[in-house]
Amino acid sequence: MVIKHVALDIVCGITSILPENEVPEIAFAGKSNVGKSSLINALMNRKSLARTSASPGKTQTINFYNVNHEMYLVDLPGYGYAKVSQSVKEQWGKLIERYLHKSKQLKAVFLLIDIRHKPSENDKTMYDWIVYNGYQPIIIATKSDKLKRSQIQKQLKIIKEGLELPKGAQIIPFSAQTKQGREEIWALAEELLFA
Ligand code: GTP
Ligand code: MG
Repeated sequence: MVIKHVALDIVCGITSILPENEVPEIAFAGKSNVGKSSLINALMNRKSLARTSASPGKTQTINFYNVNHEMYLVDLPGYGYAKVSQSVKEQWGKLIERYLHKSKQLKAVFLLIDIRHKPSENDKTMYDWIVYNGYQPIIIATKSDKLKRSQIQKQLKIIKEGLELPKGAQIIPFSAQTKQGREEIWALAEELLFA
């Protein structure tokens, strides 16, 4: 993918009306702090257009990044962020659900899991939702730079087993630091959007 134009076009909070876009969308879902915003920056070749933070709970709105006027990369708030109140968690959950159920342009939901961790119950719920709604599940195992090469396969197996992935399901190790996996993710994104 040659990046010619990127911009943050639309920001939606809990009371926002969601946009009815005319170009296809890919959403990035996952636990708080897993690296969703960092992945979107890496895909767009930007350092900090999508705001990131070492503390979880950074992205609190749904942010639509326009790429080349031909698609949106959609940054979602993370789930499982312990520090906010139950009612805020529920409001974010409802916002995400509302978007995932209502968007007419959503073509794929990429699920991000930290490569060092066993998937959580929330991860499993998200995975099941993706499959149930007919999307091809694409799992991205983030922060692969944090592991030695020899550990990567073992951790991928733990993620596969935790989510009960079918044989041959795609799981892509990715690092926002080394950009490992970036080309593979773009290839898949383009295939899902334009094939
Ligand atoms: P929320 O918006 O809070 O849901 O988090 P997020 O999933 O958008 O995560 P974000 O991209 O803000 O990254 C969280 C932290 O992890 C930041 O300190 C990032 O620098 C770090 N991080 C993200 N990706 C990587 C990676 O591939 N490798 C390493 N080492 N750190 C990463
Ligand atoms: Mg974020």
